[in-house]
Amino acid sequence: MKIAVLGAAGGIGQPLSLLLKNQLPKGSELSLYDVAPSTPGVAVDLSHIPTNVSVEGFTGDEGLVKAVSGASVVVIPAGMARKPGMDRSDLFKFNANIVKGLVEAVAKHAPKACIAIITNPVNTMVPLAAEVLKKAGCYDKKRLFGVTMLDTLRAETFWADATNSCRCSAKVPVIGGHSGTTILPLFSQAEGYEKLSADQIEKLTLHVQNAGTEVVEAKGSGSATLSMAAAGARFALAIVRGLSGEENVVEPAYVESETGYASFFAQPLLLGTEGVKEYLPIGKLSSFEENALNGMLDILKKDIQQGVDFVNNN
Ligand SMILES: NC(=O)c1ccc[n+]([C@@H]2O[C@H](COP(=O)([O-])OP(=O)(O)OC[C@H]3O[C@@H](n4cnc5c(N)ncnc54)[C@H](O)[C@@H]3O)[C@@H](O)[C@H]2O)c1
Repeated sequence: MKIAVLGAAGGIGQPLSLLLKNQLPKGSELSLYDVAPSTPGVAVDLSHIPTNVSVEGFTGDEGLVKAVSGASVVVIPAGMARKPGMDRSDLFKFNANIVKGLVEAVAKHAPKACIAIITNPVNTMVPLAAEVLKKAGCYDKKRLFGVTMLDTLRAETFWADATNSCRCSAKVPVIGGHSGTTILPLFSQAEGYEKLSADQIEKLTLHVQNAGTEVVEAKGSGSATLSMAAAGARFALAIVRGLSGEENVVEPAYVESETGYASFFAQPLLLGTEGVKEYLPIGKLSSFEENALNGMLDILKKDIQQGVDFVNNN
């Protein structure tokens, strides 16, 4: 199976490619693309790791065609990251054309690929990509994902620490979108919920919602790259496992949704040989979570519309 990473020379792209080189199943082909001329060199570097995963790196317009042709999975971390003081939505004007161009290439050269978008603002980039794919006549909502996995990693880590439980087993569904209040961890569904007060739950929720900004401020330049690479690899590997026929592969992502809350929504998914096999229910919410869900919907819908309009009005 061929897996392409577009934006592979960047802060996320390089460690993500490293994790995939080490963790993809034997016989996989890893294909790297970036506008950075160093990209073929990144592939040479990775090629010295003795795993049975081949790796090639490309740059330039022809390189993009080669990188995506025949790919079953395309992961996109290409584009600008936040700097202190920036909101994810501030990135739209920089990243919209990048994602549009890359998705157009995927539509042309790998129309059946599962596409996982990491580039921010995810809330807007995924609907934008859906419109591009619709225009190209190859949209399949079961194969287009926004990667919200990092919110889940954060929620599970913070939950394990707050409840003194093992980080390896904490399970916290995170729903909604991937920015500020649209990120909604459902701690009421986590084991040990009764141990924490309402005040603690509220603080933990805010911590998950602001965790990206915490990294941006701590770094001073750039946003989460290493934890995002871990999250991106976990999600890309889950898609590969589903496509390969493995059963019971469940991970969350931001997809065109059947929940009825907004046309795109992050929720748990059962992954299979065609991408999404089943949209799993979000389960029962506490009244705090119900309020938070109702409070986010206008923002989420506006973000979604911005992506739709960008493609249809340009
Ligand atoms: N989904 C999430 O949870 C999450 C988390 C963190 C960061 N992000 C987002 O991921 C994106 C990348 O972040 P980063 O830290 O790796 O940034 P970065 O600047 O380090 O890397 C971005 C890479 O994209 C490349 N690029 C730019 N235009 C391109 C194009 N047209 N085709 C191919 N490659 C292109 C650049 O050359 C660069 O190598 C940002 O938009 C950031 O906001 C998302």
